[in-house]
Amino acid sequence: MNLYKNVPSLPVLAGICNMNQAMKPGLAVEECVRRLKRYHYAFKRLHQIFTARITAEPLYELKMGFSFHAHLCAEHTTVLRKRVGEMREPPLGLEAVPDPALEVLFDEILGVTETGPLLVGLYEKALPALKRALERHLADTNHLADQPTVRLCRFALLELADMTKFGVECISTLVNAEARARLQDWCKLLDQSLEAAGELDGTATPVQHRLVRQHSVNPYRFDGVPRRDARFPDPYNMGVNAEVFLYDESFPPEPKTLMMFYKRLREIDVPEMMASIITETSGKPWGYYQDMTRQLWDEARHAMMGEVGFLQIGLNWPEKVMVNHTWALCLNTQLKPIERHAVLYFIEQGLMPKNGKRFEWEVGLASRNPLAALFQDYDWADEVLHARIGRDWYVKDFSDPQKAVQYGDECWSRVLMNWDHWRQKGLTQHRNWWPELYREACQRWGIEPDPRVLAYHTTYQTVRADLKELTGSA
Ligand SMILES: [Fe+2]
Ligand SMILES: [Fe+2]
Ligand SMILES: [Fe+2]
Repeated sequence: MNLYKNVPSLPVLAGICNMNQAMKPGLAVEECVRRLKRYHYAFKRLHQIFTARITAEPLYELKMGFSFHAHLCAEHTTVLRKRVGEMREPPLGLEAVPDPALEVLFDEILGVTETGPLLVGLYEKALPALKRALERHLADTNHLADQPTVRLCRFALLELADMTKFGVECISTLVNAEARARLQDWCKLLDQSLEAAGELDGTATPVQHRLVRQHSVNPYRFDGVPRRDARFPDPYNMGVNAEVFLYDESFPPEPKTLMMFYKRLREIDVPEMMASIITETSGKPWGYYQDMTRQLWDEARHAMMGEVGFLQIGLNWPEKVMVNHTWALCLNTQLKPIERHAVLYFIEQGLMPKNGKRFEWEVGLASRNPLAALFQDYDWADEVLHARIGRDWYVKDFSDPQKAVQYGDECWSRVLMNWDHWRQKGLTQHRNWWPELYREACQRWGIEPDPRVLAYHTTYQTVRADLKELTGSA
């Protein structure tokens, strides 16, 4: 019914809701903020858990999924912090634990060692609890008065649904009935934690439970040793130096796209390494964690672009391309978090000059593979962002930017890449897998292999990935 005389009948209230809905009392600011802080805590803890599990998780799909979900949770955490800041004066109390029972819930999921229970805890318990809370917010609040929160909840619900779908599909493959039966006790503890908290948003009457910790009796210890699944059969192999080939002007662009896809896929070691910096660095402003996690996710995306690049040509990369984990392994086990960040910054700022990311994009354009050009185009754009993140969160602590670069170089030079030692220990033969990959690619392309390209056999034994002589990645 049109309540207004002599004006056309149009949607009221900017289309947000109808008049009746806008007239209901909804949530006071105090209650709204109280609930928002609990959603914020949940997203922040989820970000922490996803990040902490990237490195040691062997399954490639989970490693990538955790990288994505860490980023999504960091973004929602940021938005929630901002919204609380719009409604309250500092101190906002965003670092406080809103409910000790919620702390038990997230500590338990963080502390569980096996992947199956981790997935169940995350995707069947924590995420659905958060979904219920956000849905309740939408049902309880006044959509006109609290529209900015409504928007935030709707976007968060959208991505929570995506995350949950991914997780549920993983669980259906990875957790069988027997494993689930063994989880009963633990799942009960998670349910009771939520009950004791009066649900995630604290709107239900808390149920008294004696919460006995199972996987979080001792403080959490991060596992920084990267693990990979069967698609990475030779993880110490440093037998094919992609950079020396890529920057050799005498080689044609097509085979160089293979080296670029290899370099992209090998970027899987950057999330493995960055997860360690993020997890082991405490006390930074929240923006640090948001930015670093965005970068971590970009690097995971770059790895998946490499995967897609190989599959598009019809190449079975797990069999033909030996993607190593040596860079993440050495940095995580030999350097302190700040030293790892220094190495990352040193490598990434070196990607920006003419022979770096622009060059890779130009190789993509010169090749007959438009996907290679597209992927390099976005890889370049992302790396420019990463250089900015490096300046904001790493360089800023140095009096002189040159010193920041120098320190990164020094830290990287200290890293012991045990090329020979690994071979002697039988961990790898540094097999030159390049000719086989190139030959098969030529078959797919319907061309004869170029004997010079086929004969390429420069390793990383004496030349680092930045072409510095010596003892790489990003
Ligand atoms: Fe990249
Ligand atoms: Fe990067
Ligand atoms: Fe990168």
